[in-house]
Amino acid sequence: MPVITEIADLKRIYKRRVPKMFYDYCESGSWTEQTFRENVSDFDQIRLRQRVAVDMTNRTTKGEMIGREVAMPVALAPVGMTGMQHADGEILAAKAAEKFGVPFTLSTMSICSIEDIAEHTSAPFWFQLYVMRDAEFIDNLLGRAKDAGCDAMVLTLDLQLLGQRHMDIKNGLSAPPKLTPPVIADLMTKWGWGLKMLQTKRRTFGNIVGHAKDVDDISSLHSWTAQQFDPRLNWDTVKEYRKKWDGKMILKGILDVDDAKMAAKIGADAIIVSNHGGRQLDGALSSIKMLRQIVDAVGDKVEVHMDGGIRSGQDVLKALAMGAKGTYIGRAFIYGLGAMGEQGVTEALNVIHKELDTTMALCGERDINNLGAHNLLIPKGFEGEWV
Ligand code: GLV
Repeated sequence: MPVITEIADLKRIYKRRVPKMFYDYCESGSWTEQTFRENVSDFDQIRLRQRVAVDMTNRTTKGEMIGREVAMPVALAPVGMTGMQHADGEILAAKAAEKFGVPFTLSTMSICSIEDIAEHTSAPFWFQLYVMRDAEFIDNLLGRAKDAGCDAMVLTLDLQLLGQRHMDIKNGLSAPPKLTPPVIADLMTKWGWGLKMLQTKRRTFGNIVGHAKDVDDISSLHSWTAQQFDPRLNWDTVKEYRKKWDGKMILKGILDVDDAKMAAKIGADAIIVSNHGGRQLDGALSSIKMLRQIVDAVGDKVEVHMDGGIRSGQDVLKALAMGAKGTYIGRAFIYGLGAMGEQGVTEALNVIHKELDTTMALCGERDINNLGAHNLLIPKGFEGEWV
């Protein structure tokens, strides 16, 4: 068992164990990947304020996200095709999240279904919704989420169509993978992944195959988005969903102050400041650069969460100190999952928790809820002046 001390350790193992097609899917941003890179590198510009001679006993990282107590304010983000990173990936990640005491969010485009997660966990999970053209299918999906005990719907607003990620096209991304000669050659070096995949029946989009109609290639994310995702989605649609769904509603993909105001007005319980991990509008600003303006504009009306670029507990601390009430990790837990299944997700959460707790202490704080701008050194003009 390798010694894991940082998320990068998990990423190295992940890269060796998971087929290239799915590694590339996770590790890509759209087009030039500027936003994907800056989500991470912009965190580095922010420094921490060291304070000393503060009693560091009795520390706590416990917080709340939309009224739910969390062991730390770090939820698992919805990630499409997680069950291709490791057999039964969504079930394993949800179990790790439950044991750790953080929320798990299931993507519409997951491999394991809503019912699979409900069957294998007992904590309520959150369900991420992509609005599709087939209204009946969506109503049915929301009914299934309700029956499964999901207490929050995460409505994604930044993906009516797919931003282009070059490698997915070049690799012929699909679930399950099509056995072309390059895929077979790659799989010969990833036999551990393949053996587990042969032992599960969950190898394609569990929430939608057999439920939604009219897609040419059911194994392709590109076909689903192009043919089923509803490009008409607009604020009236969001209002309808607010009425339809009687649980908590989290709006994901907000990166603009005006959109944040609209979300607050509609009565969202939370928003996620997000650019979809740099996978949609390449050239958009990083989430961390947009965070403060959005918190300043709507932080007193709606809970503000953020995702994008978090690879450490220090990053979590920076986001919280800049006003986020909650954060999400996507890639950081996928590395763990691909590297070593459920245990790898637990390792990822442990690494982040330890970094967060120790860093908090070295910043002179004992309670995560007391973090604030006073803990940070933010360079002048960090957000930039744009016209
Ligand atoms: C889907 O959510 C994706 O980003 O691939």
